[in-house]
Amino acid sequence: MSEVVVMEHPLIKHKIGLVRNVETGSKDFRELISEVAMLMCYEATRDLKLQDITIDTPICETVVQQLRGKKLAIVPILRAGLGMVDGMLAMIPAAKVGHIGLYRDEKTHEPIEYYCKLPEDIPEREIFLVDPMLATGGSASAAVTLLKRRGAKNIRFMCIIAAPEGLARLQQEHPDVKIYIGVLDKYLNENKYIVPGLGDAGDRIFGTK
Ligand code: PRP
Ligand code: URA
Repeated sequence: MSEVVVMEHPLIKHKIGLVRNVETGSKDFRELISEVAMLMCYEATRDLKLQDITIDTPICETVVQQLRGKKLAIVPILRAGLGMVDGMLAMIPAAKVGHIGLYRDEKTHEPIEYYCKLPEDIPEREIFLVDPMLATGGSASAAVTLLKRRGAKNIRFMCIIAAPEGLARLQQEHPDVKIYIGVLDKYLNENKYIVPGLGDAGDRIFGTK
């Protein structure tokens, strides 16, 4: 079974409370999603390996630590995943960015793929797949399948709000993927929206409704 980390940090909890509020407009919503992504990135990179290197300070030679070897990639699921990229890049600026375009069919709620552009060396990279919402799990699971077909081996999935149904599906279909969740919500409604959730993440980020 895949490892799941649910965020405990008070700042993350506070900011998720603000994004849930229907009164929060697009500008604040975007900023908050980016800030939560940055804080979650801090938590989700805790286990990255370090190596010692020798450098000169203005005073003397010394040994410092830097991230070891592994190259990183951030892959947002379009559209809403785009809202998490800047916050992630603020923490890991050397990461490459790939894009996977998926949308949920309105009737079946199954994901439809429309775009995929990934760094050429994706099989060698540690991947942070990001999307604010894990609802049925269809989109996240399809995105992981797509990444694996391109040779990706080390994949972490990060979302801000998850439903138990989506978490169970992703864990079952991809037990090797480590999952980072801002908050685990109650259930999905009849339209497969997360309850209490925050509504449609893409529409709220881009102001399309
Ligand atoms: C939303 C969200 C996820 C997906 C989650 O995207 O950003 O990608 O739904 O639902 P699931 O777990 O049931 O697949 P949406 O399909 O609305 O596309 P958009 O971001 O382009 O608006
Ligand atoms: N996609 C969203 O943006 N919100 C949900 O609650 C479910 C899917």
